[in-house]
Amino acid sequence: MNHLIAPSILAADFGNLQRDIEMLNQSKADWIHVDVMDGLFVPNISFGFPVINAVNKHAKKPLDVHLMIVDPDRYLKAIKEAGAAHITVHYETCPNLHRTIQVIKELGCTAGVALNPHTPVHLLEDIVADLDLVLIMSVNPGFGGQHFIEHTYKKIRDIKALSEKLNPSLLIEVDGGVNDQNAGTLFGAGANVLVAGNSVFSSADQLGAIEKLKQAVS
Ligand code: DX5
Ligand code: ZN
Repeated sequence: MNHLIAPSILAADFGNLQRDIEMLNQSKADWIHVDVMDGLFVPNISFGFPVINAVNKHAKKPLDVHLMIVDPDRYLKAIKEAGAAHITVHYETCPNLHRTIQVIKELGCTAGVALNPHTPVHLLEDIVADLDLVLIMSVNPGFGGQHFIEHTYKKIRDIKALSEKLNPSLLIEVDGGVNDQNAGTLFGAGANVLVAGNSVFSSADQLGAIEKLKQAVS
């Protein structure tokens, strides 16, 4: 399966968002990762619909929207209308996860579920066949620029094993602290989509940083 790179615009320069989106359009990035935070599920607020609409206006790549919000069901339709191609909700915020996933699919989006670092992969056993994507958080959600949690490798191997049994086409995405030092090992462990915020946008050579991630091998 392909190795995909999804730079996170949380680390972009919001005063020059159009410039940064155009850089991503020119780059080897596959998706544009869009982090929505509500200040309740996570201790930070990022941005909402006006910003997602603005990103969508300029983006030539699919928007990969990561909803770090309580009760995401309230906003799924609006997120789709704002331009999302992929919608990921957190396991920890969805008491009726099966229904939430069906709604995302009915909207025509790729349906993903994110797991916080403390949430075990085996909790997805009875839903994994219905998912398009699982996002393994490799930091506690809420902020960019945090240190990668090493236990993530074990969780990638666990979800990879589950997907081989129950859903071989499942996409496995990793989010938080991804850089050119760990990208190859993450792909080797079974990840096929890597999110990267600071390692891309803090680089003096952003296009080169994306290319390096894209070509990383274990
Ligand atoms: C964290 C977000 C991430 C974040 C990653 O809550 O979900 O997508 O932007 O940023 P880096 O790559 O800087 O850890
Ligand atoms: Zn994210």
